[in-house]
Amino acid sequence: MTDKLIPLKIAGVGYSLPETVITNDDLTKLYDTSDEWIYTRTGIKERRVVSGEENAIDLGFDAAKKAIEKSGIAADEIDLILAASSAPPDLYPAIACHIQARLGISKAIPAFDITAACSGLIYGLSIAKAYIASGMYKNILIVATDNNSRLVDWTDRGTSILFGDGAGAVVVTQAEDGIDDIIAIDIKADGNYGHLIELAFDGKNCPLVEQYQEKPKGIRMNGRGVYTFVAKILPHYVEELITNAGMKAEDIDYLIPHQANIRIIQAVQERLGYPDEKVVTNIKYYGNTSAASIPIALAESVEKGKIKLGTTAVLCGFGAGMTWGGAIVRLREGIC
Ligand code: ACO
Repeated sequence: MTDKLIPLKIAGVGYSLPETVITNDDLTKLYDTSDEWIYTRTGIKERRVVSGEENAIDLGFDAAKKAIEKSGIAADEIDLILAASSAPPDLYPAIACHIQARLGISKAIPAFDITAACSGLIYGLSIAKAYIASGMYKNILIVATDNNSRLVDWTDRGTSILFGDGAGAVVVTQAEDGIDDIIAIDIKADGNYGHLIELAFDGKNCPLVEQYQEKPKGIRMNGRGVYTFVAKILPHYVEELITNAGMKAEDIDYLIPHQANIRIIQAVQERLGYPDEKVVTNIKYYGNTSAASIPIALAESVEKGKIKLGTTAVLCGFGAGMTWGGAIVRLREGIC
């Protein structure tokens, strides 16, 4: 531990997507819907889904390997693994522990999962910032991975159209040049709105006692309620995050938002007065990949040259809980 707060460097990012593409037209085989209905309301044309045995651990491991490689830090130098997921294949072992094993890290280090739904990456960054600032850990791997396709109710056309699978990962470390790549970060929750998106994970009571009323399986969402809640708070929240950091919207180069609905993204974009070139969107191809959506958008846009490095970006996310959060980050050369 040290008295001085240690600055954080974002050292590497990576992402991974399953190969199988399900288009809006494909979904018409499942229920009465259309490409036009889905695209105009959400901005989604297609999404990626796992098939067979593939799951969130596989995707997360792949994204983690890429982020570690870019970071220049060896896997066995990682001091802490955080995994953000709301679609783990098992409640335990934690995805973070699975990834530790897959990376071949035999050293005993802490590894745990965070459940903050689509805000998971921002929650992970916030935890990592505190640990790095305190000097408690030096190199932290954050993996955000979700496998929603296995958890949605594929008979519910109002919800299953939205989601896709994928993973993103970020490696952060101590910044030796004294420059903190997290200029500002904030996380929030309001459990009073928890009913808006729910995923029950219940079992049965002891057979010797009165039984419990099991909840319906699969993600249950009040889409209109989520939309209204988020459209009301998010644009103002992101603007305030920037103001509280002593910055103006024009001081930041890019907006990299959670990809849940193009209309929500546009509401934030309009509030910040950003042209399309400053806003990263890939919802058209991947749908809502929950916690993975922000790191996928970040890593993919860098990889494909859609955003330049040596710049700054504001990240923002929201999800079940309800949770939300935002971060203003520096994107150094070489992270992807
Ligand atoms: N195709 C055709 N019709 C449909 C479909 C579909 N896929 N889904 C619903 N409909 C119908 C409904 O049955 C309803 O018909 P009715 O008027 O005859 O009853 C009508 O369309 C309107 O339904 P709504 O649910 O009110 O549609 P809405 O305009 O609100 O759009 C949507 C639904 C796209 C889900 C929208 O509410 C939305 O995007 N909300 C935000 C969701 C979101 O961002 N979730 C994030 C989750 S983050 C996390 O943490 C997991």
